[in-house]
Amino acid sequence: MQNNKNLKLRSQQWFDDPEHADMTALYVERYMNQGLTREELQSGKPIIGIAQTGSDLTPCNRHHIQLAQRIKDGIRDAGGIPMEFPVHPIAEQSRRPTAALDRNLAYLGLVEVLHGYPLDGVVLTTGCDKTTPACLMAAATTDLPSIVLSGGPMLDGYHDGELIGSGTVIWSSRKLLAKGKIDYEGFMELTTAASPSVGHCNTMGTALSMNAIAEALGMSLPGCASIPAPYRERGQMAYATGRRICEMVLQDIKPSSIMTKESFHNAIAVASALGASSNCPPHLIAIARHMGIDLSLDDWQEFGEHIPLIVNCMPAGKHLGEGFHRAGGVPSVLHELQKANYLNNDCLTVSGKTLGEIATTSETNNRDVIYSYEKPLKHKSGFIVLSGNFFESAIIKMSVVGDAFKKTYLSDPGSENSFEARAIVFEGPEDYHARINDPSLDIDERCILVVRGAGTVGYPGSAEVVNMDPPTELMKKGVSSLPCLGDGRQSGTSASPSILNMSPEAAVGGGIALLKTNDILKVNLNDRSIDLLISDEEMQTRREEWKPSIPASQTPWQEIYRSLVGQLSTGGCLEPATLHLKVISKDKPP
Ligand code: FES
Ligand code: MG
Repeated sequence: MQNNKNLKLRSQQWFDDPEHADMTALYVERYMNQGLTREELQSGKPIIGIAQTGSDLTPCNRHHIQLAQRIKDGIRDAGGIPMEFPVHPIAEQSRRPTAALDRNLAYLGLVEVLHGYPLDGVVLTTGCDKTTPACLMAAATTDLPSIVLSGGPMLDGYHDGELIGSGTVIWSSRKLLAKGKIDYEGFMELTTAASPSVGHCNTMGTALSMNAIAEALGMSLPGCASIPAPYRERGQMAYATGRRICEMVLQDIKPSSIMTKESFHNAIAVASALGASSNCPPHLIAIARHMGIDLSLDDWQEFGEHIPLIVNCMPAGKHLGEGFHRAGGVPSVLHELQKANYLNNDCLTVSGKTLGEIATTSETNNRDVIYSYEKPLKHKSGFIVLSGNFFESAIIKMSVVGDAFKKTYLSDPGSENSFEARAIVFEGPEDYHARINDPSLDIDERCILVVRGAGTVGYPGSAEVVNMDPPTELMKKGVSSLPCLGDGRQSGTSASPSILNMSPEAAVGGGIALLKTNDILKVNLNDRSIDLLISDEEMQTRREEWKPSIPASQTPWQEIYRSLVGQLSTGGCLEPATLHLKVISKDKPP
């Protein structure tokens, strides 16, 4: 594609500015070291960044190193010049204390690169959990023409002929290990079999959910999210994405034309229909806030809760990424929402088509994977947003609230979707592991396990720890799960019906800090409330006696992060960063 509009590109201010010949010469000659000629650099071709999130340290995104070659082919063939650069690694499965700490760091770094270098557009390579929101947050802040290329899920995992999903298998196998049904070797064999190839998690965990959301927002080409990483279509998608970003630059299509309030509402509906990860609400809210769009948990309640679960993927269902892809992927989910009138059809996508145009032609070919809206897998399956007399907000993912949980906790005569439970309180995940089997806690099936100190400030980044297993003795008796509650998060691959992301967190004086073991909590899903059954006077006394205690930061970034971060309910953003919107203008920074 030619730059036939005589559009003066941003990069030309670096590479073709006779008024500042000295600087121009410096820019041009050093980039010529790639083998680029002066004619190319000064020809007005779009310079396209490839934000590379893959590395040896980020295994879920590692094959983006190969995919980048196909992205570059696409950029070249469309008349652009590719420039690949690294993004701070975020590896969900290995980063300690938690990968969530680095979402905002990668975001900050990416904003600086997009702002400060001669780029006209960018391909965002996404995949593992936090890489996707980090990239979209940076696209939102900068408003540079941007397109998402996800890396795709791993191939489906099998063990003894049964489908097993990455992450999800860990949660089920650790119960088998605790019950003595398998040993360490058996555990390792079973869990690693769930990850048979390159790619991100093959379950509908945070990675696949967030990439599906990127597609639903309109930020990737149709069908991109679900293509398994090793499929040939993945390379073809990389090529098409590289081509398309050049056209987007010349047509000046920016994130602000695509990520609108309506498209965020589409994303919420899609997330609910997918049975998406409980990490999606904070990530989507963060992306919106960096876009300057006021999105809150109320929007999740209003536009998501009533949506049924229609995608039959683990952890809420039984299939994995390959099955989802073959059944039609995200476009087929959009098709169902469109038929039910729950899609804002006019939202623009990076493809140049509207979301409605994509949805219309995308009916699924497999009703065992993508159910119809009228006959869903489960009715009303979005997130419920709860509040109570000791906190402002928490969420519960209704798509994983199963029959066993309903029968045990919500079926007492006259209970109307409510139950009372005795709280067992742990000060963070380490305390949970140290004491869960302590007989003096006297944990039985009417207890609720509480973990605090796991929010954005308390456990910097916020830990994925709320899905806690019952004591081993209880599991041996057949009680394989208990209600859980916490100010941290839980893995998107977990099917635990936990009450999560409680805000404000304990570390900043949220009421969860006031709970004591053996307190009675009343959970009412109809009223969307959780109350601590103590007197107002007792609550006041406890508040007066409360003393802040935050563990020491281990690194400078943890210290900076803690001083600037907000709560999970508002996206866990670096608050000052949300004030800087659309930082890229037509002018090169001085
Ligand atoms: Fe990286 Fe699941 S651990 S995608
Ligand atoms: Mg995770």
